[in-house]
Amino acid sequence: MIVKSVLIFDSGVGGLSVFQEISALMPYQHVIYAFDNAAFPYGELDDDVLVSRVCGMVSALCKEHDISLVVIACNTASTIVLPHLRSQLDIPVVGVVPAIKPAAELSQTKHIALLATPATVKRPYTQDLVNEFAPDCKVDMVGSTALVLMGEDKLRGQPTDMAKLEAILAPFYGDIDCVVLGCTHFPLLKEEIQQLLGHKCRVIDSGLAIAKRVGMLLRQEEADPFLALSRKHDVFSSAEVKEEAALNKEMSQMGFSIIKRAPTF
Ligand code: DGL
Repeated sequence: MIVKSVLIFDSGVGGLSVFQEISALMPYQHVIYAFDNAAFPYGELDDDVLVSRVCGMVSALCKEHDISLVVIACNTASTIVLPHLRSQLDIPVVGVVPAIKPAAELSQTKHIALLATPATVKRPYTQDLVNEFAPDCKVDMVGSTALVLMGEDKLRGQPTDMAKLEAILAPFYGDIDCVVLGCTHFPLLKEEIQQLLGHKCRVIDSGLAIAKRVGMLLRQEEADPFLALSRKHDVFSSAEVKEEAALNKEMSQMGFSIIKRAPTF
């Protein structure tokens, strides 16, 4: 029996926060994790470069592997590449967008915040989400690449600089009662963020919703526990990895084999 894989894609390690939700819900699902570190950080890229990077790398991987579904585990990419990618692939493509809708529904004060990458906070897609789902809320937005880098460091076993994190979160006090983590790198620091914002403020991300959507789409697939347990997840990068040994160590605890280079595209 051939076990088909789910491809989870991001610019760096952020998509691992989505992987964790998917693997908690579907422990027998084999995963290929791929990250485009050659073009990292995506939050600083021009739109056309971003579209061609994501489409190129994902299509090349889909040609080489038996993949049943793709998860673009990156808000920055999802806000622009999904239509392009869907027109190139004949398998489902699931994206991730900032959880503005649940935040607006949960907020009592009607003052919420979005923490994302500089590109995501500027995108018309994000403004449309706010207009559609949070018309009655004041929505403060902060774009931070520094926080993306802190997520990368944490997954390489480095301690989080809480003073630096506090400075990034400085605009988010007062009557804000919901902060949306609109970048997949940020749930990797959720505990630290929650600790600084206090428990009166909810910290929301889209990871579980994405995992449930993947579960629904894969319902018909039969995962074989014995095969799945005997096979490690695979991981591919587009370039040499910074502190590769430290990242390999962290990822092996999540069930991954060592990082390999992705096909050129
Ligand atoms: N993890 C990505 C996101 O969800 C992007 C981080 C970056 O490369 O800037 O937006």
